[in-house]
Amino acid sequence: MNNFQLSVLNKIEELVKNKFQNESSGHDWWHIYRVWKISTKIAEFENADIFIVQLSALLHDIADWKFHDGNQDIGYQTAEKILKDLNIEEDIIEKVKYIVKNISFKGAKVNHPKMETIEGMIVQDADRLDAIGALGIARAFACGAHKNQVIYDPNIKPILHDNIDAYFKSQNPTINHFYEKLLLLKDMMNTQTGKKLAQERHDFMQIYLNQFYKEWNQEV
Ligand code: ADP
Ligand code: NI
Repeated sequence: MNNFQLSVLNKIEELVKNKFQNESSGHDWWHIYRVWKISTKIAEFENADIFIVQLSALLHDIADWKFHDGNQDIGYQTAEKILKDLNIEEDIIEKVKYIVKNISFKGAKVNHPKMETIEGMIVQDADRLDAIGALGIARAFACGAHKNQVIYDPNIKPILHDNIDAYFKSQNPTINHFYEKLLLLKDMMNTQTGKKLAQERHDFMQIYLNQFYKEWNQEV
């Protein structure tokens, strides 16, 4: 990367860090940081534009529509404005916008069109990796609490949502979220590296759930 690109990334890092400092819904700065670092790691094994990967990782959650009255355009529009202000060329802005727009999970039975660029595949894998495993479990309970969800209720069954609105509005217990999203992500990974990294995190969630039910049922 050249000096201009490095200075742009530094500026965006500062901007994102400030914005996410006091966030407690699972979208804190350290989530962005991990997605940034793991995207970079996956990119080492792929033929990708590392500047676009890192810009997209840093900006992927910049303005989550879930926290903006369901305005699904807010994320990529905010990213676009930031990049324009930093004099990034139009072609790169378009590529980052595409990734920010298409990265999110929208419900188990909602069709998620495959990312069309390798940079998008990488950042989406990184974001999904941070939603599973030990970190994913921590984030799910943080997010669940933020949405006033209970931990578990055996009488409420998981729902495989077929539309984004229902998925977004769901206040099902957080354990259900494992079946509604987290356990599905392993098979949705785009890159070989992503798939490999997902396996151990996925297995850990299974172990966690087994132990959870054992304790729930007074078996241990
Ligand atoms: P994405 O990165 O795909 O847009 P979200 O922004 O929906 O993901 O979610 C951010 C984090 O919060 C993820 O770890 C996700 O699994 C978790 N999360 C989202 N919805 C819920 C929910 N209803 N209950 C518990 N955790 C959730
Ligand atoms: Ni994210």
